Amino acid sequence: MAIRKIRQLGDEVLRKKSKKVTVFDEKLKELIEDMAETMKWANGVGLAAPQVGILKRVVVIDVGEGLIELVNPEIMAEEGEVVGVEGCLSIPGITGEVARPKKVKVRAQNSKGEFIELEGEDLLARALCHEIDHLDGILFIDRAQRIIEEDSEEG
Ligand code: CO
Repeated sequence: MAIRKIRQLGDEVLRKKSKKVTVFDEKLKELIEDMAETMKWANGVGLAAPQVGILKRVVVIDVGEGLIELVNPEIMAEEGEVVGVEGCLSIPGITGEVARPKKVKVRAQNSKGEFIELEGEDLLARALCHEIDHLDGILFIDRAQRIIEEDSEEG
């Protein structure tokens, strides 16, 4: 396991569309493990592969309820709308108010290629939408109704 470098806003890799994963091998497992470790190290609730420079449809999420690893995730259904504040490990110092569904249903594969389904509400729904957006080169600042620049003294 290793901590990988988190790409920052301005890096063109963040704006590219990631490719579907078709090979479920050791290299994929290693990527997922590294992403989980990197997210934890950075105190994030989610991380998408393009944020570590890999254009593959892989995301990891941990909103405090355990690690979720998703390969080729797709939103199958969404319900409601909540405006909330979110940030991104690739865009430090800035948060924004973004409208996201209150509830989403996601279909994905795990690291072995098995199909899984999960439902997320509130923070988990927000994280799922945010991370899946990364796979299409979309950042929260593209969707934010209002951008909040944090006081630089706060770090
Ligand atoms: Co992000």
